[in-house]
Amino acid sequence: MTNDSVLITGGTGFIGHHLVNRWLQQGMDITVLSRRPQWVQAQWGGRVAAVSTPEQLIGRFTLLVNLAGEGIAERRWSDARRQQLYDSRVTLTRELAVWARNSGQRFRAVLSGSAVGYYGAFSGEQSSPLDELAPAGDDFAARLCRDWEEAAAPLAALSERLLLLRTGVVLGADGGMLKKLRLPFSLGLGGVIGDGRQILSWIHLQDYLRAVDYLLQSELSGAVNMTAPQPVSNRGFTQTLAAALQRPALVPLPAFAARLLLGEMSELLLKGQYAEPVILDRSSFRFHFPGLSAALADLV
Ligand SMILES: NC(=O)c1ccc[n+]([C@@H]2O[C@H](COP(=O)([O-])OP(=O)(O)OC[C@H]3O[C@@H](n4cnc5c(N)ncnc54)[C@H](OP(=O)(O)O)[C@@H]3O)[C@@H](O)[C@H]2O)c1
Repeated sequence: MTNDSVLITGGTGFIGHHLVNRWLQQGMDITVLSRRPQWVQAQWGGRVAAVSTPEQLIGRFTLLVNLAGEGIAERRWSDARRQQLYDSRVTLTRELAVWARNSGQRFRAVLSGSAVGYYGAFSGEQSSPLDELAPAGDDFAARLCRDWEEAAAPLAALSERLLLLRTGVVLGADGGMLKKLRLPFSLGLGGVIGDGRQILSWIHLQDYLRAVDYLLQSELSGAVNMTAPQPVSNRGFTQTLAAALQRPALVPLPAFAARLLLGEMSELLLKGQYAEPVILDRSSFRFHFPGLSAALADLV
C-alpha cells in the first residue's frame, strides 16, 4: 500500500489513530479530516496532512476510510444528543459523498463505518448468530447504523469496492470499553450487568487493524461483521476480565439501576448482538485472537 493515498475521518480517535500509526509505518500518504487539525499536527508533525472540511481537500485519494462519529456511549441519549450522533455520522458521510462526486474522486476502496448495532439489540442469550445477511433492527442504534450505511451507498459508484464495517466492541488497552472497565474491575468493583446473558460481540484491536488492511487489499465488498469468531455473554466477559486482572467481580449492576443511570442508552449494556464474522471467516483472513481469554491476557 506504499503508493496509496488515504483519506481518513475519525483518524484522531481510539481506532483511527492506531490506523494512522500503522499506515505511517507502511509509508502511506495520509490525510485526516478532523475538527482538530492542530491535534493532528501536534501528534504526527508534518508526516500527516490535516483538513477540517471536505472543501479544503486537494488532490486525489486512492482509499477512503470513514470512521468519524460522536461517542455513542459517552452521554445519555437526549434528543439533542441523538441529533449529534446522527449528524456526526450520517450527515458527514453524505457530505463526503457529495465532495467525492464533485471532485471526481475514483477510489480503489472505500471502508465506511457501521456497527453490529445495525441488527438491533437483543435481550438474553440468542440461539442463532447474525451473519451479514441478517436484516436491520428497529431501535435507535439500528436506525442510526442503517442510515449511516445508506449515506455511504453513493460512494459505491465512485469506488471499485465499498465495504461497510459492522464493528463489534473493539478491545484495546488505550481506549474504548476496556479502558473504561479497567479501573472498576481492578478495584474489584466489576460485576455482571442485568441478567448477564446478553451477548457481547467483540474484537481485539490488533485483529481489527489487521482486518482493515486485509479488506483494503482484498476483492471483497459489502457489509462485513468486524467481530471475533467467539462472542461471549456478559457473564462470561465479566468472569474472564476479572480472571485476567486477578480480581473478584462481585458488584453486579441490576437492570433497573442501569436504566435509571443511563436511560435508553442502558440498552447498550443490557442487550447485545450475537454477530458472526462470516465474510472474514470464509476469506483467507486469520484472527490472531479468536477467543476472549487470550485477547484479554494480551491486553491487560
Ligand atoms: N470503539 C468501538 O468499540 C466501536 C464499536 C463499534 C463501532 N465503532 C465506531 O467506529 C468509529 C470509531 O470508533 P472510535 O472508538 O475510534 O471512536 P472515538 O475514539 O470516539 O473517535 C471518534 C472520531 O470521530 C470524530 N468525531 C467525533 N465527533 C464528531 C463530530 N461531531 N463531527 C465530526 N467528527 C467527529 C473525532 O474526530 P475529530 O475530533 O478529529 O473531529 C474522532 O476522531 C466510531 O464511529 C464508532 O461509532 C466503534
